[in-house]
Amino acid sequence: MKLPESSLSWLLPFCVYISGAVADIGPYFGSAKYDAGEFGRWPHQSFRSSPIIGPVLNIQQHDAECENDGLLLLGPGGDEVFHSGPTIIDQRYQLVWNEPLYGKSWAVDVKYFRGVPYLTFWADKHGGQSNAAWYMLNSSYDEVYTIHPAGGWKSDDHEFDITRDQTGIVAIEMEVPFDLSAVGGPRDGWILDNGFQELDIETGKVLFQWRASAHWDLAESYQNFTEHNGTSQEEAWDFFHQNSVQKDSRGNYLISSRHMSTIAYIDGQTGSVLWKLGGKQNTFSDLSGHATDFNGQHHARFLEDWEDRKTATISLFDNGSGGRAQTHPTSGKIVKIDVEKWTAQLKQQYSNPHHRVNSVNRGSTQVLPSGNVLLGYGSAAAWSEFSADGDLLCDVHFGPQSRFSQGDVVSYRVFKRQWLGSPREGPSLSIANDIVYVSWNGATEVTAWELQGSNYAGTYDDADFFALKKTQKAGFETDILLPKENKYQYLRVVGLNQLGKKIGYSSIIDRYPPTLVAQS
Ligand SMILES: *[C@@H]1O[C@H](CO)[C@@H](O)[C@H](O)[C@H]1NC(C)=O
Ligand SMILES: *[C@@H]1O[C@H](CO)[C@@H](O)[C@H](O)[C@H]1NC(C)=O
Ligand SMILES: *[C@@H]1O[C@H](CO)[C@@H](O)[C@H](O)[C@H]1NC(C)=O
Ligand SMILES: *[C@@H]1O[C@H](CO)[C@@H](O)[C@H](O)[C@H]1NC(C)=O
Repeated sequence: MKLPESSLSWLLPFCVYISGAVADIGPYFGSAKYDAGEFGRWPHQSFRSSPIIGPVLNIQQHDAECENDGLLLLGPGGDEVFHSGPTIIDQRYQLVWNEPLYGKSWAVDVKYFRGVPYLTFWADKHGGQSNAAWYMLNSSYDEVYTIHPAGGWKSDDHEFDITRDQTGIVAIEMEVPFDLSAVGGPRDGWILDNGFQELDIETGKVLFQWRASAHWDLAESYQNFTEHNGTSQEEAWDFFHQNSVQKDSRGNYLISSRHMSTIAYIDGQTGSVLWKLGGKQNTFSDLSGHATDFNGQHHARFLEDWEDRKTATISLFDNGSGGRAQTHPTSGKIVKIDVEKWTAQLKQQYSNPHHRVNSVNRGSTQVLPSGNVLLGYGSAAAWSEFSADGDLLCDVHFGPQSRFSQGDVVSYRVFKRQWLGSPREGPSLSIANDIVYVSWNGATEVTAWELQGSNYAGTYDDADFFALKKTQKAGFETDILLPKENKYQYLRVVGLNQLGKKIGYSSIIDRYPPTLVAQS
């Protein structure tokens, strides 16, 4: 696919630099080789100044409008992603942050708690689901809160949210014995029960708990006994598969169940199910025909929250298939419901006009502050941004299209948020063949680098350092060619923000490491 020339204007400086100054690979633009898998099943890159491994992207379509609304947040994982971890990418498709320490990371997002922004995500950092937790990192990337469910429930990687009451919501799951004879399964059977806890973020105290098996008829499930036959704890039947929870201003909860193909509204006092959108027991009449036919959906969210107490708007990610006879392409949907007339209407649908994306699972639909809509395709390694009216603006692959939905490269959700990161550690540096390489994992404010030199060993004093050269930041890593006339033995790089203020100092490197001096 060809990109309009105008959309490439901001990229020109990068292209010019490629001969000398850019360390990062890509992004590629409409590369057929990338999408055919010729750059590998997980195109990635390493850097000289940092052990971080970053994704390499293939931009199918770009529009300047996508440069609004903040940074991209994802958690690349999958069979081919040997170096996963929460990841931030900027509007110019360059890596900003990755933290491999966390490993597989789900639902990377920015959420506010008592007015402070935190990076939140699920990870099994210490290995094994029993240790898995939701993490909240502050702007210096320090872990401030680690959230585990209580009462023997396992941490389910599908949802964490912070309510307007400043409480946390976590998805929970547990295998429990269950008589499945009524639904054609074993009498001494097992289910994977699902639900959520609302808890105090500081103390972990559970304020409300809901479990699907207590409130739902298992016969409404579209999941059959092929994948897990329900005969043992290991084979517990995943009848529900809850993948999103949100608390609203009335104190009730909106949940999404993939295996029921149902979005439901849960009473915040009694836990009873107040209504169901979609599925076998749908409460609504569908005015448009495509407001309730979603399958295996994800990420249901109220947009406007009951302003007139009668109607609400819900965004969701419609997987498109999942146990029902009819299937349709994966898309984002905006549905308006009326709980007096019990009607549902599809207001808008977002799907890629160039190629049908079939997402096997996972995915997200985010309505951005600008009104644009961002789709993360889950098991297809791609995200797309649309105008509110449904025009495709940007389309980005982070794995080859020929391998979409094969499990190689996935991201549970993809979000775009404002985020200001100022890491505790300074920029990192290396030098080879008179080129200094610098990067600063997680720093969002650096726009340029100043190379400085000194003749005094062991000094950190500004007065002992002399500015040698200023270079614009170019991607995750920037190459700085050492000036020929340089006489200084000790070098460091200082990060500058947009106003030219010094915001971070690297450690000091010796241009002539002792071993080299000894040899000469
Ligand atoms: C982040 O949290 C750490 C640990 O609690 C704290 O030392 C640090 O000052 C915090 N950073 C910011 C920017 O608040
Ligand atoms: C259920 O599945 C397990 C694992 O695949 C298998 O060993 C077992 O024989 C199955 N039981 C029945 C009754 O199908
Ligand atoms: C999602 O849809 C695809 C087809 O688009 C289908 O193959 C897959 O089984 C569906 N997954 C779920 C969980 O419904
Ligand atoms: C049950 O599972 C089989 C095997 O995965 C699949 O082919 C079939 O479509 C499933 N049936 C339903 C109703 O989901």
